[in-house]
Amino acid sequence: MTVKIAPSILSANFARLAEEIDRVRPESDLLHVDVMDGHFVPNLTIGPPVVASLREHTDLYLDCHLMVDNPGDLLDDFAKAGASGCTVHVELGDPTPLIARMRDLGLGVGLVLNPPTPVSAVEAYLDAIDLLLVMSVNPGWGGQAFIPEVLEKVRAARSLIDGAGLAVEIEIDGGISADTAAAAAEAGADIFVAGSAIFHADDPLASARRIREQALSGGGG
Ligand code: DX5
Ligand code: ZN
Repeated sequence: MTVKIAPSILSANFARLAEEIDRVRPESDLLHVDVMDGHFVPNLTIGPPVVASLREHTDLYLDCHLMVDNPGDLLDDFAKAGASGCTVHVELGDPTPLIARMRDLGLGVGLVLNPPTPVSAVEAYLDAIDLLLVMSVNPGWGGQAFIPEVLEKVRAARSLIDGAGLAVEIEIDGGISADTAAAAAEAGADIFVAGSAIFHADDPLASARRIREQALSGGGG
């Protein structure tokens, strides 16, 4: 059973990023970096320069969630900046060239499914990736409500991955808190992204710990 916590810096104070990260460091297994281009999603956030600054500050796995129209144009820059892994949306079309490029660059290879996208969209690529990110909100903003219907997809993905004897980790992102983590873990998630539930809490570290405890109580991946 694995449970990994990935605080999403989207909900942190960008003017005090180092301090915010350090506060939750003891409960952080990865750091989730939401990259939005104002096209794939309406919101606009951060890119490789911020990843480079994060890399200077921390040895944590930098998990870059690319919500952009043209991830292929950015992978080299993210790798150079010190990203550990990138995830690209399968809604953009056949991810085969992106998977190959991520491998060449030594990045962890992730695919992402939006809430309406079925698991069948990634089935053919599961043996080529390290991580499957299942969105539990429609991407674009932090602080949205968890969509419980995606749990069925997590279950389906878990059974495909286990059935094929693959080591692909399942990450869940959106509306994860101490209230939703157990159900996500029970469905088979391994990595729990949480933004507002951690960084908007009075005690972000305690909140991250509660999410981990709840995930463990749900059985982990
Ligand atoms: C949403 C992002 C998420 C976001 C999660 O588009 O992909 O990573 O930061 O935020 P919370 O945990 O507040 O739902
Ligand atoms: Zn994300």
